[in-house]
Amino acid sequence: MDNAAPTGPAPRPLRIGDSAPDFEARSTAGPVRLSDYRGRWLVLFSHPADFTPVCTTEFVALAREAAAFEARDCALMALSVDSLFSHFAWLRMIRDRFDVEVRFPIVEDPTLVVGRAYGMVCAQDSDSATVRTTFFIDPAGTIRAMSCYPASVGRSIPEMLRTLDALQAIDAAEGLAPANWQAGDALLRPPAQDIDEVFAAEGQADWFLREATPRKGKRR
Ligand code: BEZ
Repeated sequence: MDNAAPTGPAPRPLRIGDSAPDFEARSTAGPVRLSDYRGRWLVLFSHPADFTPVCTTEFVALAREAAAFEARDCALMALSVDSLFSHFAWLRMIRDRFDVEVRFPIVEDPTLVVGRAYGMVCAQDSDSATVRTTFFIDPAGTIRAMSCYPASVGRSIPEMLRTLDALQAIDAAEGLAPANWQAGDALLRPPAQDIDEVFAAEGQADWFLREATPRKGKRR
């Protein structure tokens, strides 16, 4: 993707299963290229603006949980329309006020070329700020999950980690993560794929709702 201002119609919204569009940009950790993250998980997320209350709480919370993402072999990358120098000043303020260093890269996207490609900008909004979108990108560069919150609601870092745990667990065990699943809980088995399996199942619901072998070693 070249970083020129966009022309023409808006791209179709990204969906789960799409390849994460590649880009190169300046960031607080130096130049970054999305494709350089192939081989590990990446959480790419946008925030509306530096020096705003909810965003500050998100960055403090994420920086404090950076080791938990690292333990899952997952990098973090943030993005907003603010300039690199705004990002620097904000991170310095966060360090001085909250005693935590944000070491993951924050991309500057003043032309919104990345924000638009990822659908991080509200199309109806006259404000060019990005909303709180989060993309979970797997080691092959495929978007596996995404979320979108308004500027007024901060994200849950435990839920981000839970989503990552669930994606990694289902890849390892080819199971399904039920409601409220937490790392270490049993996964569900994929439902029957043919009528023989349906008729052979013992319990009434066993052909579509049954636990896979419980997994050991709860991480948290
Ligand atoms: C916030 O992070 O607090 C925020 C950002 C943009 C608009 C409103 C609130």
